[in-house]
Amino acid sequence: MVAGNWKMNKTLQEGVALATELKQSVKNPKCAVVIGTPFIHLATVAEIIKGTPICLAAENCADKASGAYTGEVSAAMVASTGAQYCILGHSERRAYYHETYDILREKVLLALENGLKPIFCIGEVKEEREAGKQNEVVKAQLEGSVFNLSAEQWADITLAYEPVWAIGTGLTATPEQAQEMHAYIRSLIAEKYGEQIANDTTILYGGSCNAKNAAELFANPDVDGGLIGGASLKAPDFCTIIEARG
Ligand code: 13P
Repeated sequence: MVAGNWKMNKTLQEGVALATELKQSVKNPKCAVVIGTPFIHLATVAEIIKGTPICLAAENCADKASGAYTGEVSAAMVASTGAQYCILGHSERRAYYHETYDILREKVLLALENGLKPIFCIGEVKEEREAGKQNEVVKAQLEGSVFNLSAEQWADITLAYEPVWAIGTGLTATPEQAQEMHAYIRSLIAEKYGEQIANDTTILYGGSCNAKNAAELFANPDVDGGLIGGASLKAPDFCTIIEARG
């Protein structure tokens, strides 16, 4: 899978233009292609990409089902736009909006209950990597928010390993660092759900993945694709990354 995360970029009109450009250029991808857009773009973009191989993701959903939560957008609302996926646990939401393991566990359950497939993000910050704690950090993130799921629920989970020090910094993890962590994550899934399910789980890499470095990252056996921020905002770059997954 190659998934884009537009983050808080693009007005509705700019988003429509980008989705239209992608619709024209993404014809026969050899992998799943997902674009993650702000909430307000979802319904319109869903119409634009209807009948194409491109799938749609929200970048978040509420941790409550419905009710008096001014400004929030529920998983049911996201699903009603036609989106199939929901990015959850992104480090920006953990850091700036104080999303805890417990909040994320609720969000994942609500997404699944409403037929949305979570793209669940995990990853350590720079200080944790420097202290050699990256493995324990991602293990705690998985145990805290998604290892409560049944094997059946797990089938709808995509993971994204996004080392926080690599996001938007131009400091990509080396292919070796990515492979090492992805293999570790897969070993944790195998311990919890068994080898077969671990092998079937899609684990994306995210963090300064771009048109130039995507191919060497994706060449690793445990790197199943990418979650792309900045480079997903330009159709030609995003298409090159999709081809690199090929
Ligand atoms: P960049 O590709 O801009 O580093 O962002 C990665 C990311 O956070 C995707 O979710």
